[in-house]
Amino acid sequence: MHHPFFKHSWATCLSSVPTLHRLLQKGVAVLDIGCGGGGSSFAVARAFPNSTIVAIDPDESSISRATLQLRESPDIDNLCFIQADVESFVEHFMASNEDFFKSRGALEFLHKRRVWMPAKFTLVTAYDVVHDMKDPVGSLRAMRTALTHTTTTTTTSATTTPSSQTSDEEEGGFLFWSEPFGSRNPMNNRNTRAKMRAAVSPLHCMTVSLAQG
Ligand SMILES: C[S@@+](CC[C@H](N)C(=O)[O-])C[C@H]1O[C@@H](n2cnc3c(N)ncnc32)[C@H](O)[C@@H]1O
Repeated sequence: MHHPFFKHSWATCLSSVPTLHRLLQKGVAVLDIGCGGGGSSFAVARAFPNSTIVAIDPDESSISRATLQLRESPDIDNLCFIQADVESFVEHFMASNEDFFKSRGALEFLHKRRVWMPAKFTLVTAYDVVHDMKDPVGSLRAMRTALTHTTTTTTTSATTTPSSQTSDEEEGGFLFWSEPFGSRNPMNNRNTRAKMRAAVSPLHCMTVSLAQG
């Protein structure tokens, strides 16, 4: 659904934060949470070849699809997909659990790209994801743990430009968190995109989070 946006605008959107743009160009570690089929991850990997993107999603079929596409993209060597939810990913990452990443075929990549230690990410992205989670607050805490310092906040719609404040360019971390916009007033939802969201939300998103427990 978001692929045209990811393909044409996602990297530009992140680049609108000057400090973040500089860091991404220089080369930092990025954690893309709930990457689905990987549209956002491919866009960042292509736009910032010096940075390393670790993209995770608990959904096996999404990760298989994204991994297949990656194998067919020989121009990309700075991206890997791992099947994991954010809570277990961060737990195993911080505990340096090599077996966890080995079993997911990602250990060699993490070592090669020097993401493994020190265990930190400079940018964490969660695009249209948090509302699908069974424990949104716990997941946001896990995201914060993955960052050096969380200094950047949220947008509420995909069309909003992100804002940032960071005091230390080298040490600061960024969380880009975006959720689809919906209104409690049905009159505000009388357009094509809002109608679709209003249908997808109870039938898909709520079902996904309930299914996770
Ligand atoms: C609406 S989809 C968005 C996918 C992708 N970010 C995009 O915009 O195309 C939400 C994704 O969040 C993933 N997800 C749900 N719970 C999660 C969790 N605890 N940790 C990481 N990802 C999760 C789902 O598997 C799903 O792929």
